Amino acid sequence: MKKKVSFAALFVCVLAVCALVLAGCGGSSSDSTATDSASTDATATDQETTAAATGDYKLVEDGKLTCISNLYFPPFESMDDKSGEPVGYDIDMSKALAEHMGLEVNWLPSQAFDSLVPTIKTGGTADIAIAGMTITDARQKEVDMSDPYIDSNQSLVTKVGSKETMESLDDASKKVAVQAGTTGEEWVLENLTNATAVPLDDIISAMTGVQTGSYDALVTDLPVASYQIKNSFADLQIVESIPTGEQYGIAISKDNPALTAAINEALAEMRTDGTMDEIQVKWFGSKL
Ligand code: ARG
Repeated sequence: MKKKVSFAALFVCVLAVCALVLAGCGGSSSDSTATDSASTDATATDQETTAAATGDYKLVEDGKLTCISNLYFPPFESMDDKSGEPVGYDIDMSKALAEHMGLEVNWLPSQAFDSLVPTIKTGGTADIAIAGMTITDARQKEVDMSDPYIDSNQSLVTKVGSKETMESLDDASKKVAVQAGTTGEEWVLENLTNATAVPLDDIISAMTGVQTGSYDALVTDLPVASYQIKNSFADLQIVESIPTGEQYGIAISKDNPALTAAINEALAEMRTDGTMDEIQVKWFGSKL
């Protein structure tokens, strides 16, 4: 769902806010009088967009976009060995988002993937989770998900030389590693119903485990598998791409709809001003 800024409505609202401030009633952010009196026919979307445009959202720390992720998912997010700083596609996205919103970016330490949605839902720790996170109905019940910013699929990965196939792996004697709480885990539980799914904290240990023979295969997001095989795990192979048609979004608390609107607005700007293309080329060598 894309939201269009109605410039006319925005202009009227801005005028109304100015009038109120001049009249000495510049109220708090929760003061809805400005929007109410600005335009009697303003729709909910217009009001949300106006809130976004005026920065009328809550932040854990003033002036900062505080982000969380599970930092073991290259090239979307990982820890740079040398600097100890988070790096990756989502990190660049977060910086660009913050920039477009006139904020600084603030990254918190890595946490378990399946704790991200609960942390955002509880509130008070981080403003957004940006983690190569697929937009799913289940997640959307708990938190708001932004508009999609990239498409993805799943992949089945084995060791080079392995003869395993999707069919042969669907057997109780076969161990298929996944990252706990991910759509990859969900896919294995639904489609390789006889296999022994092994949920792990991160996908790097799954890759190392397939390498050393602890697991027969793993299932993870295709762009992550391709990137890792190309850059660090030459002895692994993609046996099959699994066309799940996933899309990544950013998780935001349902209590902060103005932040979701502002993030969507920034994403739309980044789509048209070339920022998104730039980040895709940087991490994937071409526009996706
Ligand atoms: N796209 C998958 C999901 O949403 C996997 C995401 C894993 N992300 C991470 N940062 N470890 O479930």
